Amino acid sequence: MEDLDTLRNDLLARVRDAADLDSLEAARVGALGRKGAITALMKSMGELSVEARKERGAALNRIKDEVAEAIAERQTALSEQALRTRLERERIDVSLPPRPEPAGRIHPITQTIDELTAIFADMGFSVAEGPDIEDDFNNFTALNMPEDHPARQMQDTFYMPPSGGANAGRVLRTHTSPVQVRTMLKGKPPIRIIAPGRTYRSDYDMTHTPMFHQVEGLVIDTNTHMGHLKGCLVEFCRAYFGIDDLPLRFRPSFFPFTEPSAEVDIGCDRSGGELKLGNHGDWLEILGCGMVHPQVLENCGLDSTQYQGFAFGMGIERIAMLKYGIPDLRTFFEADLRWLRHYGFVPLATPSLAAGLTA
Ligand code: PHE
Repeated sequence: MEDLDTLRNDLLARVRDAADLDSLEAARVGALGRKGAITALMKSMGELSVEARKERGAALNRIKDEVAEAIAERQTALSEQALRTRLERERIDVSLPPRPEPAGRIHPITQTIDELTAIFADMGFSVAEGPDIEDDFNNFTALNMPEDHPARQMQDTFYMPPSGGANAGRVLRTHTSPVQVRTMLKGKPPIRIIAPGRTYRSDYDMTHTPMFHQVEGLVIDTNTHMGHLKGCLVEFCRAYFGIDDLPLRFRPSFFPFTEPSAEVDIGCDRSGGELKLGNHGDWLEILGCGMVHPQVLENCGLDSTQYQGFAFGMGIERIAMLKYGIPDLRTFFEADLRWLRHYGFVPLATPSLAAGLTA
């Protein structure tokens, strides 16, 4: 039986040493295949006596089972290893940025609108829109600026050609406030909307362009008061500028469509020729607001004894310039690619309160 022990050890060693599935298969064929070592020994037992054959047959079967079991074990181990190597080799890093990186940039105006929309959406506002070409009623009359009201003069209005036709009495909207009128005429309170969009005034210098953007806000309900106005704007400004203790100052002012009216300043520091926002003792005006004038509510079909609310209007370029340190308003609309590459934002990095306003 010594020869059998040697054979057994040899076969088991070959199985153990098989480095891959191919050499394992070769070892299997060499032991158990039709021309394998064990098979050959089984076949050669014919010459033995019955007794000897029984004994040797049993011994060969044991070795056969042992070898078969070793092969199965080794096969599992090698298969697992092969799978692991393959997974390692074919690994895909799904966190890689898309390549090549998109060459386009998001314009700061679009970015700012996305940011402020995210903040106001979180406070329960929805977005309303109106046309750039407005009629006289929505832009002026309904907002408590009758035909000969001096406030109309402040607005540097672009009038559409006066000689009859479909555009008679139309203007390029001088502010987003006509969207207030459209919203109130269309639906009953509670109303809680913002309306970002283009506005137009005939003016051009460092801080004025004939087309610019505003965002309007309007909240109407039965018990809305100036405390709500204040809380809403304080929360917005702090979230937008990312300064938790940014102070706001509400200064009495005048707009024909709000009463009382206020202008809002935020805290800043101008010393050293540089502008820094925060609690530093100096002030910078950023928006106009007030409680919607009862006459405006009535003009828009709402009962001013039942409803009240607040409105605000803010220049989008202005708050973009302040947040992103853009010095000249006119550059926003020059379509200069170098400017856009510098001040623009990477696409797909959509602002959200959860993920951060700016990537
Ligand atoms: N429409 C005003 C403007 O363009 C801003 C404003 C809006 C003021 C709403 C008060 C309320 O200057």
